[in-house]
Amino acid sequence: MSTAPILTVSLNAAVDVVYTIDRFAPDTINTATDVQRMAGGKANNVARVLASLGQRVIATGFTGGAAGRFIVDDLTRRRIVADFEESGGENRTCTTIIDPTSKTVTELRERGPVLTPADAERFLARFRRLVGGAGLVIISGSLPPGIAADFYRELVSEAWRAGQVRTLLDACGEPLAAALSAQPYFVKPNLDELQEWAGAALPTDHHILLAARKLLKAGPLLVGVSLGARGLLLVSESADWWATPPAVEPLNTVGSGDSLVAGFATGLLTGLDADGILRLAVACGTANALTRAVAEVRPEDVEQLRGRVQVRKVR
Ligand SMILES: Nc1ncnc2c1ncn2[C@@H]1O[C@H](COP(=O)(O)OP(=O)(O)OP(=O)(O)O)[C@@H](O)[C@H]1O
Ligand SMILES: [Mg+2]
Repeated sequence: MSTAPILTVSLNAAVDVVYTIDRFAPDTINTATDVQRMAGGKANNVARVLASLGQRVIATGFTGGAAGRFIVDDLTRRRIVADFEESGGENRTCTTIIDPTSKTVTELRERGPVLTPADAERFLARFRRLVGGAGLVIISGSLPPGIAADFYRELVSEAWRAGQVRTLLDACGEPLAAALSAQPYFVKPNLDELQEWAGAALPTDHHILLAARKLLKAGPLLVGVSLGARGLLLVSESADWWATPPAVEPLNTVGSGDSLVAGFATGLLTGLDADGILRLAVACGTANALTRAVAEVRPEDVEQLRGRVQVRKVR
């Protein structure tokens, strides 16, 4: 496949550590029976799924310290080109504790190093250099402390300016709201994120559809609302679709949204029609739910699920 590489942007990249600990408890010694360590941050998750779908990927963002070196090594091992800006601070570590006995998932999060306006300027210069040759840009996740809330808007605008490069944006809160006027090609809130943007609960499909249309009017060319087991609602100026996966027994749905974004990007870049893009996107989200790992899909699951996704054009 000789499509242009996809550029993924993880401004607050992390080392993700997942411990499996039976009967996890505070105030005592807990010993892990399994440890997984990988490059994280949501756009790095997307990058990993893209690579397993056979796409060429350049991952960028900020790295620093030993954690930064780990992130670069882990991505490189997965055949992702890591092209990060050095920051003064060490990347954060995000720890997840899975307890198979109590079936609980406990998350320990760091905020990440505080970045400066000078860091932001240096990153923008790197982004300008990288984006011209990209087939698509994917921006996912939260902004690190110290970066202005409208930074994603700058990146989306820069991508359009640099050569009409489309941006897929998976963000929430102020960074999402501020980026809309730059017209990202696709935004992908889940239901919680759409409710937060709308400032109201969205109890029915009708409410969800109205909120998605309102979000579309604020700037993006496509709005995809991901709804867990219920799939994806895609809203555009000319038509709306629902894409529903088959019922499955999920093992771990964390990273399903990231996997969906990777499938959507792959479908777009390889020239599939709307039906094909939706099938691939939803199949990737659901394939991730079938593995224990975060943002990991088995290609055979994706192939098998693609044909079983139901796509309905609803307008
Ligand atoms: N329980 C499930 N059964 C089948 N498919 C699922 C399930 N949960 C998620 N998916 C698939 O993954 C897609 C994205 O899921 P979801 O809406 O949960 O994303 P998300 O909340 O953004 O996830 P994350 O941010 O952790 O990556 C869904 O559209 C669907 O295709
Ligand atoms: Mg998500």
